[in-house]
Amino acid sequence: MPYSKNLDVLIIGSGGAGLTLALKLADHATHVAVLSKFALTSSSTYYAQGGISAVFDAEDSIESHIEDTLDAGAGLCNPDIVRLTVTHGKSSIDWLREQGVVFTEEQNPSGETQLHLNREGGHSHRRVVHSADATGKAVSLSLIERAQEHPNIELLDHHNVVELITAPTEDLTGKQILGAYVLDTHKDQVKTITAKVVVLATGGANMTYIYSTNPHSSTGDGIALAWRAGCRVSNMEFMQFHPTCLYHPQARSFLISEALRGEGGRLILPDGSSFMQNFDPRGELAPRDIVARAIDHEMKKRGIDYVYLDISHKSKAFICEHFPTIYQQCLEFDIDITKQPIPVVPAAHYTCGGVLTDSYARTDIKNLYAVGEVACTGLHGANRMASNSLLECLVFADRASADILQKLPTIPQPPQIPDWDESKVIDSDEEVVVSHNWNELRHFMWDYVGIVRTDKRLSRAMNRVELLKKEITEYYSYFRVTSDLLELRNLVIVAELIIRCAQQRKESRGLHYTLDYPETDNTRPPQNTVLTP
Ligand code: FAD
Ligand code: SIN
Repeated sequence: MPYSKNLDVLIIGSGGAGLTLALKLADHATHVAVLSKFALTSSSTYYAQGGISAVFDAEDSIESHIEDTLDAGAGLCNPDIVRLTVTHGKSSIDWLREQGVVFTEEQNPSGETQLHLNREGGHSHRRVVHSADATGKAVSLSLIERAQEHPNIELLDHHNVVELITAPTEDLTGKQILGAYVLDTHKDQVKTITAKVVVLATGGANMTYIYSTNPHSSTGDGIALAWRAGCRVSNMEFMQFHPTCLYHPQARSFLISEALRGEGGRLILPDGSSFMQNFDPRGELAPRDIVARAIDHEMKKRGIDYVYLDISHKSKAFICEHFPTIYQQCLEFDIDITKQPIPVVPAAHYTCGGVLTDSYARTDIKNLYAVGEVACTGLHGANRMASNSLLECLVFADRASADILQKLPTIPQPPQIPDWDESKVIDSDEEVVVSHNWNELRHFMWDYVGIVRTDKRLSRAMNRVELLKKEITEYYSYFRVTSDLLELRNLVIVAELIIRCAQQRKESRGLHYTLDYPETDNTRPPQNTVLTP
């Protein structure tokens, strides 16, 4: 039986960006649905550790936060967007507290209670508001609870978007959004959902790499959906590798928060010597690109599989109070971080590029917005500073909600849309094609398009992408869609976009480092990479 639904706003993604937007819209009596590909908590937001950057310390200032963000971004941040975002730090935290998020507090010398602030790489002050070392879980659970209570919000988990539905605008100068085809993976049925406004809040594309700190949901779906629908995509070469992911065969994606280095954690080699001072005077608290490259360099030079991160010089009470989740998780792998160093490796962590948006999160398609990690707003430039991402989710969800609420009364209901046509496809007989290609793609992206690149490596990767694209397109046209197939189809597009952006940048800047052009090109103004479909 065909299924269709008509909404005011369809939000694709139940992370920090999607849920914040839903709550801000729904207070103004709008029929909003929020989709999640898997469970509602299956988002990077849920796993965020360190916290959310905002200026609270009396010694800190908005100007200093701006300066640090611009510095990490290596010349490619949009200064207006940086200012806009940073100035909304405090109000964003206040809003989260109103939603019930509890942040870690401390007593100041006069006995008053205040927020405890973490310190992380690139920040020149303590500036990171947090809930111990599980900030994302606190944010995610509170926002889900508020959304579940709200009568105007419908939460649809296990719904995976297949394709956006668009039509030419009335004046034929561009495209407008009408809705999306969505696979309900529990019912195994493709639904037609129309909406006046659609918002991509699908997170990043970090599962393009075999080693990633991200949950399975980060397959870059929103970027691929927007690209296929006709949106420009920008700065995809700037994939961020977090320096410290736990190295253990059973714990591939467990992050060891940068906040651990903020509290004195030292990176050391197997012989116990530290090495970060050889790479940057800021040592362990240099921006992430520098720390990840330093670790990669030491691992390759010495032929070792990991380096160590050591916090064992701090007291057990301090470690357990500040890092209870990390302590517990490592203990499950027989690593007692109060007594021994933690084996760590870099892993793909954050997508700085994405769907090009303006300061209200609007994309190139009328009434299609992109919020959170899926978007390229200009905040991060060539390298995101720690804990600026959750802040961006909150600020741009707020911006988008203001624009959507103002426009909504003037947007007509979309017309009737034909149902998803499955008459010419059959069930797949060889799922191994999908799983094999998933693995192959993520392996060669790690080897050829990882922390250190060369022209040759990029062109090898592109050759493989082209073969995979052909095979996947063929597979998609013959067989009924499954969640894995949809993700693979998106991953291969995202991989191509990353490689194409990387090939265009004939210099090293921020997160993009290539042995063929190891220097930053200072002979002309820094350029963003923009791809047009
Ligand atoms: P996400 O939180 O990733 O949510 C994406 C949502 O989209 C999910 O619900 C997913 O199911 C859904 N989705 C995706 N594709 C589809 C589809 N096709 N159909 C339907 N739904 C779909 N940043 C900080 O600022 N501070 C931190 O301390 C911090 N720590 C981090 C720690 C870890 C381990 C990780 C992985 C990231 C961390 N980050 C941190 C980054 C930050 O968490 C993310 O950038 C941010 O949470 C992204 O939020 P989002 O709402 O844009 O996307
Ligand atoms: C961390 O806690 O190290 C992650 C912070 C971030 O990615 O912003």
